[in-house]
Amino acid sequence: MNVTYDFTGQVALVTGASAGMGLAASKAFAKAGAAVVVSDVDADSVQRLADELTADGHEALAVVCDVADDAQVEALVKQAVEKYGKLDMAYNNAGVQPIPAEMADQSLDDYERVMGINLRGVWSCMRHELAQMRTQGSGAIVNCSSVGGLVGGKALGAYYGSKHGVIGLTKSAAMDYAAQGIRINAVCPGAIKTPMVAKMLEEQKDAMDEFLKLQAIGRLGTTDEIANSVLWLCSDAASFVTGASLAVDGCFTAN
Ligand SMILES: NC(=O)c1ccc[n+]([C@@H]2O[C@H](COP(=O)([O-])OP(=O)(O)OC[C@H]3O[C@@H](n4cnc5c(N)ncnc54)[C@H](O)[C@@H]3O)[C@@H](O)[C@H]2O)c1
Repeated sequence: MNVTYDFTGQVALVTGASAGMGLAASKAFAKAGAAVVVSDVDADSVQRLADELTADGHEALAVVCDVADDAQVEALVKQAVEKYGKLDMAYNNAGVQPIPAEMADQSLDDYERVMGINLRGVWSCMRHELAQMRTQGSGAIVNCSSVGGLVGGKALGAYYGSKHGVIGLTKSAAMDYAAQGIRINAVCPGAIKTPMVAKMLEEQKDAMDEFLKLQAIGRLGTTDEIANSVLWLCSDAASFVTGASLAVDGCFTAN
């Protein structure tokens, strides 16, 4: 399906832009005419992405950023605004999986790692993005939660906890800024065909088979299907949508 958006003259920022859903969203923002600030902890691949977008005639800036480091996130937003003068849209997408284990066996280090990236990373991103958007009196943010933010699940407690937290941060920030022209929503993907899920299908086959039985559509989602929902949430077509958590999950949460 060919849905088109026109974001000409607008500036978008994407975290975790080098692979999976962040990559698809970065390309979709660029195709829709936005200048895209692509950021990732993986320096080589994010620079390659910016080069590729630029070679295709788009405007793009690569910034290396570990979202678990608040100072790096602050520098990311600063570089975006220094280069393009404003920030219209942000997709706070970077996230990781924990080492699978039942809760009594999970380590504090792994919990801190997952929470630092998936939850505090989203908080840091919003904190610095909103400081800029507040001065503009406009903006749209999409945070990446998961169906794991809507339901519980076995053996990945830190992940499910972090993704529930993203929804809490999203709703609260949306209330802070709803009357100031800034919309903040979360997208909650089901199982999507990305490098993260490829690894899970390899390492946790039985658990993934169980999970996929509940995804009644009978297939993995595509990264473009998530990018479509992110761009829609950022667009004027979603002008009355804020504080929402949109399940894009092939029927998973309908169970
Ligand atoms: N794939 C799925 O089925 C699925 C489902 C629901 C939610 N999600 C969420 O969607 C987001 C993207 O998932 P994906 O499957 O595309 O992942 P992925 O592993 O395929 O890609 C993630 C990208 O994030 C980057 N990254 C990792 N840690 C980072 C950090 N600390 N700072 C900045 N960048 C970092 C990686 O380098 C990589 O480029 C994550 O938040 C994930 O939890 C994924």
